[in-house]
Amino acid sequence: MAMKKNHIEEDVYILAIESSCDETAAAVVKNGREVLSNVISSQIALHTVYGGVVPEIASRKHIEKINQVIEAALLEANVTLKEIDAIGVTYGPGLVGALLVGVAEAKALAYAAKKPLVGVHHIEGHISANFIEHPELEPPFLCLIVSGGHTHLVIVKDYGEFEILGRTRDDAAGEAFDKVARAVGLGYPGGPKIDKAAKEGNPDAISFPRAKVEGNVYDFSFSGLKSAVLNYINHGKMMGEEINVPDLAASFQKAVVDVLVSHTIAAAKEYGIKKIAIAGGVASNSALREEMALACKRNGADFYYPSPIYCTDNAAMIAAAAYYEYINGARAGWDLNAVPNLKLGER
Ligand code: KG4
Ligand code: ZN
Repeated sequence: MAMKKNHIEEDVYILAIESSCDETAAAVVKNGREVLSNVISSQIALHTVYGGVVPEIASRKHIEKINQVIEAALLEANVTLKEIDAIGVTYGPGLVGALLVGVAEAKALAYAAKKPLVGVHHIEGHISANFIEHPELEPPFLCLIVSGGHTHLVIVKDYGEFEILGRTRDDAAGEAFDKVARAVGLGYPGGPKIDKAAKEGNPDAISFPRAKVEGNVYDFSFSGLKSAVLNYINHGKMMGEEINVPDLAASFQKAVVDVLVSHTIAAAKEYGIKKIAIAGGVASNSALREEMALACKRNGADFYYPSPIYCTDNAAMIAAAAYYEYINGARAGWDLNAVPNLKLGER
């Protein structure tokens, strides 16, 4: 039997595993906020050939890499499996085959080493990335989560407690970046490429629509903007005109960022929240960071954002989330399974 510890007084070490999409990742984090190791084996180069993530290839790569990645995370942290207090793992949302690899691995490790198992929601992980570099950040705060698969505006009421104010009705913000980048031949993943190209372009060169959504004012929609960009490109091609990629990238990016910032600030005002955080892959976008920082300053709100390495998928953020779930008593059973469409706040 494992010795029971007093978790209030003693340090808590979490080993976490993340395999929901195309990164095989493991990390060791102390007390939810101190990263001892954060190992990421990226498959991006493999999927680039196909212009996007191929689910079966992702699962096969995870199963090939996961043991080495976990071993490297423990070694780098200088912590043995015996010293780990609990094992956290992303169990949804994400690609089912990819998630299953991480979940099966975490269960096997937890069972063999007699450690508690904690299932983590991927988006809760993204939000928790903000705890790593901001020791002073505590709920409640407002968080905009923008990634390849998700666009959510959420009030983080407490650790593990969320109120979703808005979400995308169609494409996620990162998905729009990826599709537009592909249409102008910038390749996958498109977000960082658009971000870079936009630095050389004029954001006011092309007027693209800011999507309005009927009903919930905090919901997002990016498919109309994406179509407008694709129409612009097709029209240019038909007329035999050369497309100015930097101008297009900057104008498209501005249209996305304007909507993300205005929704977030409107919600902060309505709910009287003075702490605003961003998370997810698109949170490393330089225009979003700049515009959100300016808007927060204008509105007297504190602005929090993770370093780029904690914005895109990683296991340190999963460990941070697992820590708070763990100290609040959450334990997964041996029947833990992958839930590809897991909703935030659901158990
Ligand atoms: O969080 P993440 O790694 O995976 C998901 O959970 O989806 O996000 C990946 C997404 C991709 O769509 C990628 O194009 C986008 O984040 N991304 C960016 C930037 N860096 C990554 N989008 C805009 N600007 C960036 N600098
Ligand atoms: Zn993610």
